[in-house]
Amino acid sequence: MLVGVPKEIKDNEFRVGMTPAAVAELVHHGHAAIVEKGAGVGSGSPDEEYARAGAILVATAEEIFARAEMVVKVKEPLAHERRLLRPGQILFTYLHLAPDLPQTRDLIASGAICIAYETVTDAHDRLPLLTPMSEVAGRLAPQVGAHALEKAQGGRGVLLGGVPGVAAANVVILGGGVSGAHAATIAVGMGANVTVVDRSHDALRRLAAQFGSALKTVYSTRASIADLVGEADLVIGAVLLPGAAAPKLVTRAMLATMRTGAVIVDIAIDQGGCCETSKPTTHSNPTYVVDGVVHYCVANMPGAVARTSTFALNHATLPFTLALADKGWRDALKEDPHLRAGLNVCEGKLTCAPVAEAHGLEAVSPDAALG
Ligand SMILES: NC(=O)c1ccc[n+]([C@@H]2O[C@H](COP(=O)([O-])OP(=O)(O)OC[C@H]3O[C@@H](n4cnc5c(N)ncnc54)[C@H](O)[C@@H]3O)[C@@H](O)[C@H]2O)c1
Repeated sequence: MLVGVPKEIKDNEFRVGMTPAAVAELVHHGHAAIVEKGAGVGSGSPDEEYARAGAILVATAEEIFARAEMVVKVKEPLAHERRLLRPGQILFTYLHLAPDLPQTRDLIASGAICIAYETVTDAHDRLPLLTPMSEVAGRLAPQVGAHALEKAQGGRGVLLGGVPGVAAANVVILGGGVSGAHAATIAVGMGANVTVVDRSHDALRRLAAQFGSALKTVYSTRASIADLVGEADLVIGAVLLPGAAAPKLVTRAMLATMRTGAVIVDIAIDQGGCCETSKPTTHSNPTYVVDGVVHYCVANMPGAVARTSTFALNHATLPFTLALADKGWRDALKEDPHLRAGLNVCEGKLTCAPVAEAHGLEAVSPDAALG
């Protein structure tokens, strides 16, 4: 199969759909890859590495879309890219169609086979192609929180780990799932006093077993959150109700009880955020202050560490990319129910029920679409 990797064109997106190592695997499987010149530069992989991996470098995205049987990307195709898609072409990338009717319409009209990273499942009902980005965002959260706590950034001038004779910062993590557990790993490592709040007993037990006395676990109630937030230097929002808006666990009234210069890093901002006062921000202007509390609400945190994120994403996507190339999309999707769960649009038909529901459109099941 001829697989194409265009350069990402979304604002401030430096990741790339395939690393040189992933391209080398593809070539080893007997396939060919065309990569747009400069596609990997933002994540630290120059063109020469792709050439050494066996890729053919081409000048434009137009050529990639015109020639490739499968296009592997990171972000959803923008309007310009959507116009380049062809009937029967495979598109494998994050799509996030539920809030995006124009993209949904364009992908249906394209006749392409569009498989979304974010709806691919695994045997434990998890989302394996979303997990690596939650891991990245979770591990990044204490780092950006520590920076925001610096005086010059508007924070209260507290060092996360303290020093001998001076107390460490209090870090409260709301949600102890993937991103929360990874945030805890880094915050504990930095020497902070860390408390994780969750309403899942399993999550709390897992964390207690993993960290022992290095971390406190607290059951999530309004009262427990109000108490902890009042004493916190850094609050990390890492909750998720799958498919739904994040619950507003930190209210505006709670902000008044917080320390001046305390910081909230709301990872859950991509689902609306778990603080009433959270609104999305960008890497170029990541924070703002409400009632003396610094808010960091960047909706694409992994973009800040494009290289780490690209490698983590590729490790998760590569087995699926290879299956699609080796078997062809129809057989690969028929054989693997988890990859099939990623099928959002197939040859002019919408095949993802939640997306159809979000837009009031008709959907057919992936099974029906595959015949
Ligand atoms: N901002 C970014 O760049 C970025 C990057 C990656 C992921 N995310 C987002 O981070 C959020 C968390 O993702 P995840 O993969 O860690 O989810 P997850 O499902 O692994 O964990 C969520 C946790 O929240 C807990 N929870 C739910 N309701 C709660 C409540 N009322 N009180 C306390 N805990 C509660 C759940 O029990 C679960 O343990 C998601 O919205 C995800 O999309 C954002």
